Amino acid sequence: MPRRAIFPGSFDPLTNGHLDIIERSCRLFDEVIVAILVNQAKQSLFSVEERLESIRDVVDSSCVRVDTFDGLLVEYAKSQSATAIVRGIRAVADYEYELQMALMNRRLEPDVETVFLMSTDAYSFVSSRLIKEVASLGGSVSGLVPERIETRLIERLKSKKTKE
Ligand code: PNS
Repeated sequence: MPRRAIFPGSFDPLTNGHLDIIERSCRLFDEVIVAILVNQAKQSLFSVEERLESIRDVVDSSCVRVDTFDGLLVEYAKSQSATAIVRGIRAVADYEYELQMALMNRRLEPDVETVFLMSTDAYSFVSSRLIKEVASLGGSVSGLVPERIETRLIERLKSKKTKE
């Protein structure tokens, strides 16, 4: 049985912090599924299809599969025969939210273990939300997101501005 893990998130957009977690997860698991949450309620900059396509474009590893999911994460994990959920922790601020989710997920599905990876210090301040905020105000996010995602981000923010 291959050891399979799910790395779930919104990935709006994927950052180098995410990439770091994906690469390190591949050392622990045979297969890592990067699973993008389909969340109709949450306003996103990129559509789920765009995120799926751009993550596939920048993640080039036989260990990684990119997919989307809706509904309960643990149900999705079970449907993929995954035994673990991987989450990155950047700072103490992440801990409380992540602990709550991990405990709830364990209650829902005790066979799916949550594995936390501490983020690499170089990316410990990087979040998709801050990346969007800084880029939309004209700041550089170079080195914090993959180049091809940076290009798409700047283009999207420009076209959004001209529409406003
Ligand atoms: O990157 P994010 O947005 O912090 O990821 C949050 C995510 C996708 C892991 C979380 O919202 C999630 O698992 N949603 C699926 C619905 C679910 O299972 N909710 C119960 C979690 S305890």
